[in-house]
Amino acid sequence: MEVRAPAPEVVIAVEGLLKVYGDTVAVDNASFTVARGEIFGLLGPNGAGKTTTVECLQGLRIAERGSINVLGFDPRRHATALRRRIGGQLQQSALPEHMRVWEALDLFSSFIPGGHDWRVLMRQWDLESKRKATFHSLSGGQRQRLFVALALVNDPQIVFLDEMTTGLDPAARRLAWELIREIRDRGTTVVLVTHFMDEAEKLCDRIAVMEGGRIVAIDTPRGLIENHACGVCIAFTTDADDVSWIGGIGCVDSVQRHGRRVEVEGSGPVLVLVAAALVEHGIVPEDLHLEQPTLEDAYLHLTGHAQRD
Ligand SMILES: Nc1ncnc2c1ncn2[C@@H]1O[C@H](COP(=O)(O)OP(=O)(O)OP(=O)(O)O)[C@@H](O)[C@H]1O
Ligand SMILES: [Mg+2]
Repeated sequence: MEVRAPAPEVVIAVEGLLKVYGDTVAVDNASFTVARGEIFGLLGPNGAGKTTTVECLQGLRIAERGSINVLGFDPRRHATALRRRIGGQLQQSALPEHMRVWEALDLFSSFIPGGHDWRVLMRQWDLESKRKATFHSLSGGQRQRLFVALALVNDPQIVFLDEMTTGLDPAARRLAWELIREIRDRGTTVVLVTHFMDEAEKLCDRIAVMEGGRIVAIDTPRGLIENHACGVCIAFTTDADDVSWIGGIGCVDSVQRHGRRVEVEGSGPVLVLVAAALVEHGIVPEDLHLEQPTLEDAYLHLTGHAQRD
């Protein structure tokens, strides 16, 4: 007998979300769902509406139109009940300058009976040596880590992380990724706003790409690459005078030459076809290699920035 996997439980459902600031349409008819246990990414250029969207989901901004359901609550009407169950690391936050790291963690956890032990969070987010430091004396990355720890202090079912790793050094970023995976493995759903393509590709189960307030695509990182990035790129170096004939080979979309370097874009079995044709023409290319399309290619294609740049 076939045993079907249970349908994923939807913990966020957004339908037709519209948020306007004066003349600016910050979020324009956005619809999406997030399943429990997912790491759901929001990508998009500056001003695309990512922060506004996650702020509406947390009940921090009131949308003009559309329906939002987060863990069964409407954030507009049940913001207090919802806030006990979610955690938010805001893109722009501040604490009193003289508040110490341990005091901030202790204060935030005192609001929530039964929350996480903040000492564990302090260790996990590598803040122990800064336990007695004042907020004002922390570096940018240390502040960022404190805000993430504060967002997790109530052991939330969903955590919203808005540019969590901006300002972190490479080692701290890797540590943050590990911790995010751990948070997810414990059953917490993560909504992650980021500008880092490697971070989105490695961490996110699905990604919504926003542009000008609209969601222009939602898919897995692999799905975005397969459906929206151009094909593969073959790059090699040669002294051959004329390689324009490569443009006539099947599966080749374009050929560009920069000095001795040749770049061929195409799809399907283009590598085999181009390699065979080069051999036929007696050309032995140097450093021939294949560049697979990346999430960044898909993102730039979707948001139109490749063309504009
Ligand atoms: N409080 C506000 N008052 C007026 N306009 C606002 C306000 N907050 C945001 N906006 C505008 O709404 C649009 C979306 O802003 P938002 O902060 O959601 O973008 P974002 O995708 O988070 O950008 P970034 O990547 O720069 O953080 C922008 O055009 C912004 O100028
Ligand atoms: Mg933002």
